[in-house]
Amino acid sequence: MKIVKISTLILSIMFLYACGGGSSSQQETEAEEEAPAETAAAPESAIADTAILVIEGNDMMQFNLKELAVPEGQIVKLTLKHVGQMSAEAMGHNWVLLAAGTDKAAFGMAAVAARENGYIPQDMLEQVITNTEVIGGGEETTIIFEAPAMGYYDYICSFPGHWGVMQGTLTVNPG
Ligand code: CU
Repeated sequence: MKIVKISTLILSIMFLYACGGGSSSQQETEAEEEAPAETAAAPESAIADTAILVIEGNDMMQFNLKELAVPEGQIVKLTLKHVGQMSAEAMGHNWVLLAAGTDKAAFGMAAVAARENGYIPQDMLEQVITNTEVIGGGEETTIIFEAPAMGYYDYICSFPGHWGVMQGTLTVNPG
């Protein structure tokens, strides 16, 4: 009788295991079927949706564009070109997109002391949506970022003394 009870118990355990195992393997199969479709679609749409923006800085401490615009959620490939000849130490430029509500003046002043961090004050990172590195004459640099929520955003060059004139507005339109 003891042997019968044990074998019944084993059968019960095997039955439970079989049911549990069956349903979980079915879920795995469904997940595998969905995954390839998403992976295949992503690269194509990412390329099609990328907006190319080019902005120039020169030796006269100027950006050539004061206004940029992209749709909400847009993948943006922005290139900053320094079309001058002066060095990054004398006339360096970067492109810094500031979060809405950022005090440009306060940021620009703090940036003066942040040379080793590309003139991005490390205690104000939450006010930076994205930024390029600092470049000198004849150089260019590119960043890729996703356009933030609809609204108006200031951009500046945070090289010491530049933010006052090297600034503009990125308008993010409805997507
Ligand atoms: Cu500059």
